[in-house]
Amino acid sequence: MQPAMLGLWSLLLLWGLATPCQGLLETVGTLALIDKDELGKAIQNSLVGGPILQNVLGSVTAVNQGLLGSGRPLGGGGLLGHGGIFGVVEELSGLKIEELTLPKVSLKLLPGFGVQLNLHTKVYMHCSGPLGALLQLAAEVNVTSWVALGVSSRGTPILILKRCSTLLGHISLFSGLLPTPLFGVVEQMLFKVLPGLLCPMVDSVLGVVNELLGAVLGLVPLGALGSLEFSLATLPLISNQYIELDINPIVKSVAGDIIDFPKSRAPAKVPPKKDHTSQVTVPLYLFNTVFGLLQTNGALDMDITPELVPSDVPLTTTDLAALLPEALGKLPLHQHLLLSLRVKEAPMVTLHNKKALVSLPANIHVLFYVPQETPESLFELNSVMTLRAQLAPSATKLHISLSLERLSVKVASSFTHAFDGSRLEEWLSHVVRAVYAPKLNVALDVGIPLPKVLNINFSNSVLEIIENAVVLTVAS
Ligand SMILES: *[C@@H]1O[C@H](CO)[C@@H](O)[C@H](O)[C@H]1NC(C)=O
Ligand SMILES: *[C@@H]1O[C@H](CO)[C@@H](O)[C@H](O)[C@H]1NC(C)=O
Repeated sequence: MQPAMLGLWSLLLLWGLATPCQGLLETVGTLALIDKDELGKAIQNSLVGGPILQNVLGSVTAVNQGLLGSGRPLGGGGLLGHGGIFGVVEELSGLKIEELTLPKVSLKLLPGFGVQLNLHTKVYMHCSGPLGALLQLAAEVNVTSWVALGVSSRGTPILILKRCSTLLGHISLFSGLLPTPLFGVVEQMLFKVLPGLLCPMVDSVLGVVNELLGAVLGLVPLGALGSLEFSLATLPLISNQYIELDINPIVKSVAGDIIDFPKSRAPAKVPPKKDHTSQVTVPLYLFNTVFGLLQTNGALDMDITPELVPSDVPLTTTDLAALLPEALGKLPLHQHLLLSLRVKEAPMVTLHNKKALVSLPANIHVLFYVPQETPESLFELNSVMTLRAQLAPSATKLHISLSLERLSVKVASSFTHAFDGSRLEEWLSHVVRAVYAPKLNVALDVGIPLPKVLNINFSNSVLEIIENAVVLTVAS
């Protein structure tokens, strides 16, 4: 879906977000379930690190104007009306916020809508009281906001402040004298002034969190292969425990053209998310996409020449003659061989039985190698290598390293006579393990990119291979 279209959708559907359903997942995208704790943490961090609290501090100008304007609670015909009180309020002037304790964040997810966010803080202020005496006071305030979850015009998940109110708790006076009748006036003043000061703070907090949420749509460079761009496949969903994002990969070539890999939707049964954990499900499609990119870029091809081969790897005509004398024909012994290995079809990844396997169809051309001369073709084999993938999460990707489990070969064409290719399997397995698998693992350094989800660090996540997907679970 185009971002512009998502923007429109968000307008239409902001109030009607569905609640997520557990169970069978048929997606080509990475599914992120962000625990409510993780959102709370992001909100808390935005308050700790940045200048948000600092920005609230300072003098509140025009308090009295605001309070006394017509139609306002303290204005003419308002709560207190004209009279003696006018002079008093005028004397309670120059309100200055001096300090704000770090708000205690609590939040409640509202399924299908968004978040109810409470910031509980204590505001320290001073103002001039009656007869110009300094009044120092503190008020406990509970800022309650209703925040909707939607999609921005850029196509990123976004939290939007819909309603905000402040609840005044205990007010304490540190210094100065405040006659009891005036206490109510101060309370009225704070009641009037605080939402205007503290609700913008909520907006700033959401600004920081939206920045983090927006990072989910980053472009992940894949070196010489191109890049991967994540986008939201559907509207974000929200339950009472987590936010769900379905994040589709868009694969692009180095030139920036979109590469469309066949999207077979292999169903994956996602385990239920445990409380206080966030969970990311990486679909089989993403694995096949990365291997598809490697294959189309020739990164899986290799010419195994004598210079690349350690001395203990048997790659001479003598070694071949010992296994298959007829393949050598009249060529001399003690000469080098060259293996030209080409992967002409996309490898196939399977995630099954808690195992990740890669099936790699490779054409192996065996040649007689004489330095400075054109190699002489001996025979060609069609092989299928089955490689076991070890997966390890890091902060930004799933690392993959492959090791050969088995290799099968059939003779494709022979320049001497027909023979049984399986006689060469053990020998080729040896060469593949020693030379080709290490080269594959260098190419696989790109790994399987993980989207950035609210700064969640996947390094310490628990990895589980399920049918057609890999699930990473991170404790909040
Ligand atoms: C703040 O307000 C919310 C909602 O009204 C309430 O649930 C919460 O207990 C309040 N917190 C404090 C510390 O007063
Ligand atoms: C993620 O966590 C690991 C281990 O705790 C740490 O070494 C790494 O620096 C972290 N990465 C980021 C990007 O925070």
